[in-house]
Amino acid sequence: MNKIAVLPGDGIGAEIVPPALEAVKEAGRKYGYRFDFKHGLIGGAAYDETGHPLPEETLKLCKESDAVILGAVGGPKWENLPVHLRPEVGALLPIRKHLGLFANLRPVQVFPQLADASTLKTELVSGLDIMIVRELTGGLYFGDKKKEPIDGGYRVVDTLVYTTPEIDRVARLSFELAQKRGGRLTSVDKANVLETSRHWREVVVNLAQEYSDVELSHIYVDNCAMQLVRDPKQFDVMVTENMFGDILTDLAAQLTGSIGMLPSASIGGDVALYEPIHGSAPDIAGKDLANPLATILSAAMMLRITYNMEQAAADIEKAVTKVLEDGYRTGDIMQPGMKQVGTKEMGELVLQHLRG
Ligand code: IPM
Ligand code: MG
Repeated sequence: MNKIAVLPGDGIGAEIVPPALEAVKEAGRKYGYRFDFKHGLIGGAAYDETGHPLPEETLKLCKESDAVILGAVGGPKWENLPVHLRPEVGALLPIRKHLGLFANLRPVQVFPQLADASTLKTELVSGLDIMIVRELTGGLYFGDKKKEPIDGGYRVVDTLVYTTPEIDRVARLSFELAQKRGGRLTSVDKANVLETSRHWREVVVNLAQEYSDVELSHIYVDNCAMQLVRDPKQFDVMVTENMFGDILTDLAAQLTGSIGMLPSASIGGDVALYEPIHGSAPDIAGKDLANPLATILSAAMMLRITYNMEQAAADIEKAVTKVLEDGYRTGDIMQPGMKQVGTKEMGELVLQHLRG
């Protein structure tokens, strides 16, 4: 039996995860695959129940599973907790670290049916297919932090740290992805200012000797942000530091029409974690308004990456394409002339196509 840990989390998490599980079950049925879903608590929901946003049982459940499907964490209710108990810093970052998930794959693909939904000109984004690899367990989000009182206020510190092996492993993985895709890798850094970036670049350049079939380029992160909106199709695979990747992937999400469309896979450890790149959207939670497609597509990534169930994964992706082709849209991707549906109906439509 294939064991999946399911952590819906907070906000819209409870609405977007069930349709993804249904899609996995339905896609698997055709090929005789069966899944055992075990639910766990994470984020504010876990804090309310147990006093900690990442309970030991949840970590144990994840480690005993093949893969984790996560909804989203956080919300205004938990914003004023001490920082180590907040859903983001107390649960999301640590679960990635505990599971050793150093590489976060964020594919930025534009569905042809949504090319006009982007705020960018259709011709700039139609056919776009890039892969951003965000380093996920090091860098600025994991370095030492400090806040000390001084005359006139405080002195506050965040630290950006990388070791050679940390850079090497995520770069290696990115070169290998580039080999399987368009053969081009762009390493994004700020080597004109940061010591970590200069070393990042050295490590990537050294590795390039082992991957002579990959065309390597380097770009500063500020220029990269501009290039992503100027001409996104120039990129194939990109690899970058944790915070740079966090920022650039939100930007890149908008190229696809909505952040509600972007799935992600966090890999590198024994158990991989799949989650949409968007947050818990407390403003629309519980209203049947959220777009479940990013989570459904994350589940497809799980079938492909963790289980090698290529056909079942492709079936889910095809079903999503069909639903969009039929003109169904959640509010975030709604356009004139299309049919607006809620979270549940969107999930149901995907299932109908999977049933064939
Ligand atoms: C993401 C999110 C998280 C991150 C936050 C919620 C901590 O923005 O997954 O991109 O920065 O990693
Ligand atoms: Mg983010």
